[in-house]
Amino acid sequence: MIQVVRSAKAFAPVLTLMLTLAVAPAVMAEAPVGSVIPRPATVTPAAGVFVLNDGAALIVPRGDAEAMRAATYFADLMQRTRGLRLAVREGDETPGAVVFRRADGSAADAYRLDVGPRGAVITASDFGGLFYGSISLWQLATAEAGQGDATIPAVVIADAPRFGWRGVMLDSARHYQSPAFIKGFIDWMALHKLNVFHWHLTDDQAWRLEIKRYPKLTEVGGWRVHAGAAAQKDIDPATGRPRLYGGIYTQDEVRDIVAYAAARNIVVVPEVDVPGHASAAIAAYPELGVTDVPGAAVPAVPADWGVYPTLFNVEEATLVFFENVMDEVVDLFPSEYVHIGGDEAVKDQWKASPRVQERMRELGLADEEKLQSWFVARLEKRLNDHGRRMIGWDEILEGGINPNASVMSWRGVEGAIEAARLGHDTVMSPAPVLYLDNRQSADDGAPGRGFTSTLRDVYSFDPTPDELTPEQAHRVLGVQGNLFTEHMRTEDRVEYQAFPRISALAEMAWTPHERMDFADFRVRLDPQLARYRRLGIDYATSGLTEVPAAPPADGQRRYDHQMKLCTAALPLSLIDDAPLEGERPALLMDILNPCWIYQSADLSHGLRFEAAVGQVPFNFQIGADRDKIRLGTPRTPHGELEVRIDGCEGEPALVIPLAEAAGDDGITTLSGRLPARAGRHDLCLKFTQKELDPMWGVDWVRVSDAVQRGND
Ligand code: ACM
Repeated sequence: MIQVVRSAKAFAPVLTLMLTLAVAPAVMAEAPVGSVIPRPATVTPAAGVFVLNDGAALIVPRGDAEAMRAATYFADLMQRTRGLRLAVREGDETPGAVVFRRADGSAADAYRLDVGPRGAVITASDFGGLFYGSISLWQLATAEAGQGDATIPAVVIADAPRFGWRGVMLDSARHYQSPAFIKGFIDWMALHKLNVFHWHLTDDQAWRLEIKRYPKLTEVGGWRVHAGAAAQKDIDPATGRPRLYGGIYTQDEVRDIVAYAAARNIVVVPEVDVPGHASAAIAAYPELGVTDVPGAAVPAVPADWGVYPTLFNVEEATLVFFENVMDEVVDLFPSEYVHIGGDEAVKDQWKASPRVQERMRELGLADEEKLQSWFVARLEKRLNDHGRRMIGWDEILEGGINPNASVMSWRGVEGAIEAARLGHDTVMSPAPVLYLDNRQSADDGAPGRGFTSTLRDVYSFDPTPDELTPEQAHRVLGVQGNLFTEHMRTEDRVEYQAFPRISALAEMAWTPHERMDFADFRVRLDPQLARYRRLGIDYATSGLTEVPAAPPADGQRRYDHQMKLCTAALPLSLIDDAPLEGERPALLMDILNPCWIYQSADLSHGLRFEAAVGQVPFNFQIGADRDKIRLGTPRTPHGELEVRIDGCEGEPALVIPLAEAAGDDGITTLSGRLPARAGRHDLCLKFTQKELDPMWGVDWVRVSDAVQRGND
């Protein structure tokens, strides 16, 4: 029955299978094929093993181009991850081969995988099913580390996705990623059976998508100067001005990416954000903006994060502009859906503009929400004329939408619930849990949004909350993880934030709810991480241990994320703006109240106190919240770091001037002495400063015995 036993390691699962089959219920018996993520709908162990040998044949039906594509992809994947060379050919099925077989009638992306001593057979009705059957087989063949022939316990898997929309959104506007990275990322998505790549291509900080009719969108809109003093000092010798950061995607590159994705069963859904997140386009074409409100002009593509007041105007010419943009968008992207944004369009400029108000009256619209709905509906009409559907962020519900429009819920799940109740299709991508730019654990010092969304949090998200009737739950097309990149400056950071949580996302999106089991998932994640290493994916390990580490003891550096934030209204882990090249520290702070607690310092002998501090640009468009940020009054021109004992009010126990640190773009270590007090005490750290920008942050603190220096 067992053909080849190559090692004790390969033997172990087979033995386990045989033993558990005799005595244990189905869940235990499944252990040998436990390495498949997302967990399949049904898994039935069978007798024996299949040895996938070097040189084995992959057989596809004659003339079946899709099966040929799936088999060729599988061959390449096996070669690059297991070193096996497999030969794809059309024709008759033979023993020892992997057979791709067609059968009518199964659901989209569903497949059956039969593995037995005589070979493996993948049966599906569509390309997605053939492709995903082969991905499951690849996972079975790489469940054990090592290279060469793969011994796979016999099994029958019958599998189909829970949701049709299994998405990841990547923001290529805030930071640019190369087409090569994007293709690699899409390839990794495919290995998780994720099938929608929502591509956030336009925003305040950039317009990245080449539009032939309006070349300035990318010529101007694709480039900006980073925020912060360091970027201002980085002069481009070619222009004598601060160096521009950015990049664009040409239409040729886009077509290439779309085709590459399609070959991996992934649809690229483009997003062109209207009527807010408009600054880059208005910097390129000022006539698109609100021109009769003081301060509304956009002289250059801006580099702040947050919510700008900048909106497109509502002139007929502007609507025609965007209809023309949509014509090129649908030509580039064959997706059923086009995303028109619609989020965070604060209406101050529209309210303040006499011309917008006049236009609102001309159009017979009651208020600015209705005006936004009108704007969106015009573009929806154009998309519908092309046979496409519109989706937008949940704000599009506010002024009413057409019945066929779909809603992506990001402000929690409420938008999706409301949309489903109103009969709209909807996608769940709520913040903070599915915002993969949040930190992966409390122990994670990486840059990002400062809330945490752990592997378990992502896994445990319920896409069909109890509030929905079964009929309404059918309106949930699926789920999506979002990677907004304000705080992901590099491609490496995107990779780090996405992995391994993307595995949890994939299982939550694919696996039937009753088959979800985090403990089981966590066991299957280990071989998945080994695959990541083989694929060269630089995944985060910070969230793999669920018990948070104790903070470092006195005498050692205690980093910002190992301290407590006094409040967590808008916590962000912000990247220092210097040095321009290489690693920069991330400073975790509540930007609405920069204040840290070093808990339980032993002050019994007095303490040498050191704090590594740095400045980050305060580049946040946060409206009136800015006025609520209270900073202490400085005693010296550059301000001070204040340390208080047992509370954040009252007289500080230590005040360290920032003059020395203010002249340093990077991180400076300050030091001082704290008075002796019996026992352990919390230290509260705050800064005094005149201006918000730049804002001081703490990288680490070390408190050590006054005589004895601690170690790093
Ligand atoms: C969003 O996060 N503004 C969709």
